[in-house]
Amino acid sequence: MVEHERFESFLESLPESLPKHLVDLEIENIKEGIPIIRKGGERLIRFMLELKKPVNILEVGTATGFSALLMLEYIGKEAKITTIERMEERAAKAEENFKKYDKRGQITLIKGDALDVLSELTANGNEYDFIFMDAAKGQYINFFENIKKLLSNGGILVTDNMLQEGRLLDSRYTVVRRERTIHQRMREYVNVLATDKELETMFLETGDGMAVSVKK
Ligand SMILES: C[S@@+](CC[C@H](N)C(=O)[O-])C[C@H]1O[C@@H](n2cnc3c(N)ncnc32)[C@H](O)[C@@H]1O
Repeated sequence: MVEHERFESFLESLPESLPKHLVDLEIENIKEGIPIIRKGGERLIRFMLELKKPVNILEVGTATGFSALLMLEYIGKEAKITTIERMEERAAKAEENFKKYDKRGQITLIKGDALDVLSELTANGNEYDFIFMDAAKGQYINFFENIKKLLSNGGILVTDNMLQEGRLLDSRYTVVRRERTIHQRMREYVNVLATDKELETMFLETGDGMAVSVKK
């Protein structure tokens, strides 16, 4: 874990080429204690977008829109991003940010609980070739069946916060009582990703632990 933290600090110290508005948004979010994608995660997302060149992206967990605007920088003009956020205040801030920085209107924000929104998107026959899952960790397992339906063949699913600050690796017997449910749900989600016959998944230590899955 110490080496991992050193590596993350090293990544943070690397020079980067983010546009100024993203650097400012990142600082603003950190100051306000809003959790956003970490540096290692940013690099993974940028890399995967370059590799996959998706045209239809779904994000679960917008917060104030930082990662959606980050993705916008690395996709084509024809690509679209749909992003879901349930907290009113964060969604309002995201809307404001999209108005300022998404000049071509490539991002659509859906306000609501992802559990309901994902069911609706599935019922309407939507498909995405890139999905970024970055919401409440304890709910990933509940989102999974719809996420799998929404992912097109050959599509990529990136899941963030797999490690739960390292707690995922702890035995369930050592996890404090209030965190047992989330720990158990995350373990379940990891097992599902690891064994699902329709997906091939790679688990990475990057950021707070990320999984990259491809639908066969
Ligand atoms: C880690 S933050 C997202 C950060 C954002 N992706 C970024 O990197 O800029 C997670 C967000 O997911 C939202 N969220 C959690 N559970 C959700 C749910 N069931 N439906 C919709 N949004 C949810 C939270 O309100 C929070 O703003």
